[in-house]
Amino acid sequence: MNVDYQQLVRSGVALTDAALERLLPHTEALPHSIHRAMRHSIFAGGKRLRPLLVLEAARMVAGNLPDGAADLGAAMEMLHTYSLIHDDLPALDNDDLRRGKPTCHVVYGEATAILAGDALQTLAYQTLAQLPGDAAAKVEIIREISIATGTGVGQEGLPPGMIGGQVMDLEGEGKKPTAALVEAIHRAKTGALITVSIVAGGLLGGAGAADVEYLRRFGQCAGLAFQIVDDILDETESSTALGKTAGKDTATEKATWPAVFGLESSRETAAELLRDALAELQPFGEQAEPLKAVARALVERTH
Ligand code: IPE
Ligand code: IPE
Ligand code: MG
Ligand code: MG
Ligand code: MG
Repeated sequence: MNVDYQQLVRSGVALTDAALERLLPHTEALPHSIHRAMRHSIFAGGKRLRPLLVLEAARMVAGNLPDGAADLGAAMEMLHTYSLIHDDLPALDNDDLRRGKPTCHVVYGEATAILAGDALQTLAYQTLAQLPGDAAAKVEIIREISIATGTGVGQEGLPPGMIGGQVMDLEGEGKKPTAALVEAIHRAKTGALITVSIVAGGLLGGAGAADVEYLRRFGQCAGLAFQIVDDILDETESSTALGKTAGKDTATEKATWPAVFGLESSRETAAELLRDALAELQPFGEQAEPLKAVARALVERTH
């Protein structure tokens, strides 16, 4: 199967943006400030990688794009954007540039930014509750997503969720990181949301238990590789290229992969994890090519 990746991205981003446009309250809806703040961050120009994972996982499992896939992708993008708004707050990473624009709290103030993040999270769950299709699959999707974005309570064998990872990340600042700590942080703060985007897409497409586990292992490898690359790019790219402040991790002594292993070894590990991720999709044969192309883009990106 030949994958036209540019076309895949164009159509996936267009589907996602149309869903977000429809689902987010308009800037003229009251109270204006929070709806403007939510739209400011959502439409600032993110890569939409998590929705692309949702769409291609769902398409791979179902054989075509199931109803609701764009809304599920939009919900994941709301959760991701909420996490970025809060990640940038003065109390967390204190960043003033995101997606090439001033951060939400810089434009709308801290209180509105906090609430805009909260509101994106609740709108995500409203969107999930309204998905079409099988009710049992929908409950399972919501259960998986709530575990992945939380603090790690709810399922044996899964890493702590995104918020748990953010806590470990903040508590790790200024300390000498160990390999085990940085791996735990990365799997939780970033890997969990990436993994659940793939798993949820698969569940919407009707994946059974065995397929969910292949998708989960694929996501865990790709998600860890993604955050290793984020750490590498923070050290090697400019703020202009990234659309966010470069060099922040070293300045704030964050627990990053290069801080523990160095840049060269970090690059090798990201490439190895990508190979491991792709191997998990063998059972899906040719149908997996588009999803594999998204995974390669997660790791081979330059911003
Ligand atoms: C940035 O994610 C935050 C991390 C989890 C590392 P992305 O690199 O996907 O950011 P956007 O969505 O394109 O802005
Ligand atoms: C962000 O990690 C993880 C979440 C938002 C959950 P980073 O703090 O490394 O992300 P950037 O580099 O600010 O995008
Ligand atoms: Mg952070
Ligand atoms: Mg940050
Ligand atoms: Mg980073």
